[in-house]
Amino acid sequence: MSARRPVVAGNWKLHHDHVAAVHYVAQLAVQLRAMDVTALDVVVVPPFTDLRSVSSALEDDGVDVALGAQHVSEHDEGAYTGEVAATMLARLGVRVCLVGHSERRRHFCMDDATVGRTVAAVRRGGLVPMLCVGETEAERDEGATEDVLARQLDAGLAEVPAIDAEHLVVAYEPVWAIGTGRSATPEDAQGACAHLRRLADKRLDGGAGALRVLYGGSVDAANAAALVEPNDVDGLLVGGASLDATTFAAVIGAVADCYRAAGRPARR
Ligand code: PGA
Repeated sequence: MSARRPVVAGNWKLHHDHVAAVHYVAQLAVQLRAMDVTALDVVVVPPFTDLRSVSSALEDDGVDVALGAQHVSEHDEGAYTGEVAATMLARLGVRVCLVGHSERRRHFCMDDATVGRTVAAVRRGGLVPMLCVGETEAERDEGATEDVLARQLDAGLAEVPAIDAEHLVVAYEPVWAIGTGRSATPEDAQGACAHLRRLADKRLDGGAGALRVLYGGSVDAANAAALVEPNDVDGLLVGGASLDATTFAAVIGAVADCYRAAGRPARR
């Protein structure tokens, strides 16, 4: 288990309108134990239309949870119908933005170069990119996982030569594990996250010792603790199990308990 402050992020994908989102925050406020949010960083990542309501609800209910966005334009402004800029998200209180999620890569033709330009746009807007990388099942079967991760990480950081570990989160999300109920083993997650940290070490100002590298893919309350036990896994990116506030709180509680049991100080 690492000395880095863990992150648990819940990606709602295309679920919950803003009315449902406000109910969710109210439930989360009840379910989250204060000692859990002092032990780790919790992020909720709702659809764009919910951001304003969720931001207000978190503030009103005094919930110590950060706000994330699922997508952002690579452009800062201009004639780009349908796009949203990082500075617009920052004005709403968004702190983190997913970039390069496999569903954006697959369904919306997001290529490596676009991922790199989008990471740069997120940084220009003052947000922290959560750069998602991961191999497909076919790539894994070919033994190409390490090469795929190296290519995606390099491309993701290509436009931000001066980034440091505090301003980046990397999420290892094997495509075959997302939404399948078949998570990676803790050993596989550790291997991939350690590989990503080694690769990032050469790319980050000051090295990757403080970089948070998360695992994502079929995380639930039952497997969460085992997945964050290895030293290089600094938290979780949760999809399906984040859609219900009670279940998400259980995942958060499992991670926090695991860190507490290991005697980790709750540092910010
Ligand atoms: P899942 O999704 O937890 O439903 O597998 C994870 C993700 O896509 O980030």
